[in-house]
Order: sequence, then structure tokens, then C-alpha cells
Amino acid sequence: MKAAKKMNSIPPSSTLKVLALAKELERSGRKIIHMEVGEPDFDTPAHIKEAAKQALDKGVTKYTPSAGIPELREAIAEHYAKQGIEITAKNVIVTPGAKHSIFCALAAALDPGDEVLIPSPCWTYEAMVKIVGGKPVFIEGSAENEFKLDIEKLKGAITPKSRLLLLNYPNNPTGAVMSAADLKPILEVAVDHDLLVLSDDIYNVLVYEGEQGNPLKFPEMAERTISINGFSKAYAMTGWRIGYAVAPADFIAEMAKIQEASTSCTAGFVQMAAIAALRGPQDFVAEMRAEYRRRRDVLVEGLNGIDGIDCLKPRGAFYVFPSIKKLGISSFDFCESLLKSKGVAAVPGSGFGPGGEGHVRLSYATSMENIKLAINLIKEFVEGLPARS
Ligand SMILES: Cc1ncc(COP(=O)(O)O)c(C=O)c1O
Repeated sequence: MKAAKKMNSIPPSSTLKVLALAKELERSGRKIIHMEVGEPDFDTPAHIKEAAKQALDKGVTKYTPSAGIPELREAIAEHYAKQGIEITAKNVIVTPGAKHSIFCALAAALDPGDEVLIPSPCWTYEAMVKIVGGKPVFIEGSAENEFKLDIEKLKGAITPKSRLLLLNYPNNPTGAVMSAADLKPILEVAVDHDLLVLSDDIYNVLVYEGEQGNPLKFPEMAERTISINGFSKAYAMTGWRIGYAVAPADFIAEMAKIQEASTSCTAGFVQMAAIAALRGPQDFVAEMRAEYRRRRDVLVEGLNGIDGIDCLKPRGAFYVFPSIKKLGISSFDFCESLLKSKGVAAVPGSGFGPGGEGHVRLSYATSMENIKLAINLIKEFVEGLPARS
């Protein structure tokens, strides 16, 4: 069937493409080490599952208010208060996944042709911006600057049509972190040019060194910031589909209209589980973070031990984004051949926007055993490539 013309410009997710090929190989009996997906390999903590079970038994099986169950919106406000950010439940909307929060926010913020400034390499925002009629404008970062947003490049990308600046730190795919001091001049530019800021904070519990700044901690930013977060990464709840946005109450009301028109609400028993996640014990988060950090250190050291691969040590999230530029092979060919010949699934950097080519993304949300195996297999693969001149 013929789809709308705009669909031609909407790229499919490169992660899902690799995943599909990896699954196909698995079906034919191959063992695959999955380092392509951004999904915690930990199970959801038992007390969170228990809360969902109890909610189901109590009959929490109906529609909920569009913006979310009041108690969860309050729990999220409390969670922000603990970080020194004063908001109320009216500043919160709960959605099926943080992804849908981003989608509702963009749909509520953009008029056709509005430009969205996106530091790149970046996650799959391009498709979302285009679907709602906006125009992505990429600001290319570099490994030399640890993939942080460069203020001069930001200023150079702003036009009269610029409407929103999309920040994602800790970053997917680079793991870059931006401190409050790093963010300050950038947010000043946003204020000067009357830009909204969408801050995708989904990895903000996964910071290993230094601190991640939060735009909401800058008083003049509250009126122009949409902060996105969720439960997928912090509480290993990817499949539950629950996330949220924090923004000025009038903007949340507009986002709620989009949620009402698209998914109605997030499943009630899942929202009850999310309350347990926020109000229950938090040791899981710290233990998970410590384990990711150990894995990151092993992976970065292993990759840097391979001739032709250069890997920065990312400060956050659970990805490394090594450069393969010295190998003289495209990131797509690298990932396809690595997967087919050695059974290690990685994502080509070319799928993460300008600045991504010449890199590959590997997720360390997999066991230490798999990471060590993968390093050896990548080494064998690289050593088997034709000699470089
Ligand atoms: C940067 C970023 N934002 C948002 C999400 C989506 O999270 P959720 O599972 O809550 O939709 C992801 C998931 O990979 C991500 O990497």
C-alpha cells in the first residue's frame, strides 16, 4: 500500500536493523553476543513486580487519567524534590515509555517547518521530529571534544526558525556527560534565542565520573524546559513501557491532549509498579551502576588494546562509541562483517546522524563474560581485515 510521501524521509532505526539480522542468524543456530541493544540485562527488581501483581489483583485494569495516576505524578514530583528541583504533580505527565513523552512533547511544541537543534551523533530523534512536521538541524560533535555540544557550533546553527534545542546527556550513543558548568553557556544561548529545551535525561542515574547538569536547576530554565525521564534504564523496565515528562503545567496539559488522542494513558498496574520503583529501596540502582562501571572499564581497555581502534572512556550511559577510522572500512561494513563472521552485534555509527560514521556503538548492558568474549572476537576480526597501507 502506498504510504504518505513524508515517509520516504523517515529513517528506520539502525539498531533494530542489526537486531533483525542478529535474530535471523540466531534462528539458524548461531550464538550471537548482543551488544547492539540499549536494554539492561538485569531483571526488574522483585518489589516492583510485586506491586504490579498486587495492582492487578486489586483490579487496577481500567483506563487511568491521561496524564497519569495522581499518586505517581506526586511520586515523580517528590523524586525531583530530592534532587533539589521543586515541581508539583501538575508539572508531570506519565506516558508509555520515555519515547512517547518525547513524541508528545515534540508534537505539542512544533509547528510545521520549525527547526529542532540536535547535537549529533544522536539517538533516533530525527524520525520523531520529521513525523511531527519539524526539521532536524544537526550540530556535529567530535571525539576531540568528548562529544560535548560546542557552543560556537550551536550559535552557528541557530536561525529565525529555530524552536527547540534537544539535549541528551548522558548521551546515547557516545556516553558523553555535560556538567552544570558545561551546560550554563548553552542554556544562556537558549534563553537569548527564546528556544525551548528538551532534555532527555533517561540515563541520568548512570554517571560514573563527574556530574551531569540538569537544566531545571537553572531558575530561568523552568519555563522553557521539558525534562524527559523514565523507568526503562534506571529500574530495568524496558518492556513495561513507562516514562514521563516534566514541564510547565500549561505545556503538560497540551501534551496530555496528544496522549489522549494517541494512546489514552499508560497501563494502570504499570503505573503502580512505577510508584514502587520510586518510593521503594534504591540499592538496585547503585549496584547496577557499579556493575556497568566495571564492565565499561574492561571494555574500553580491551578495545584500546586492539590495533586500529580508539575508544574514549565515556562518563555515562551504557555505551562505548569507539572510532574505527584507522581501519579504512565503513561502520556498516564493519558491523555487518563482524556480526556474520564472529557473531558480535554492534550498531554502525552512520545510524546516529552526522559525526557518527567512522564509529560503532557497543552496549555494555550485557554480562562481563560476553564482554570479554566480544573483545577477543573483535580483535580476531580486526586482525583478519586486509592489511592497511
Ligand atoms: C536516549 C534515549 N531516550 C529515550 C529512550 C527510550 O526510553 P523508553 O524505553 O522509556 O521509551 C531511549 C531508549 O533506548 C534512549 O536511548
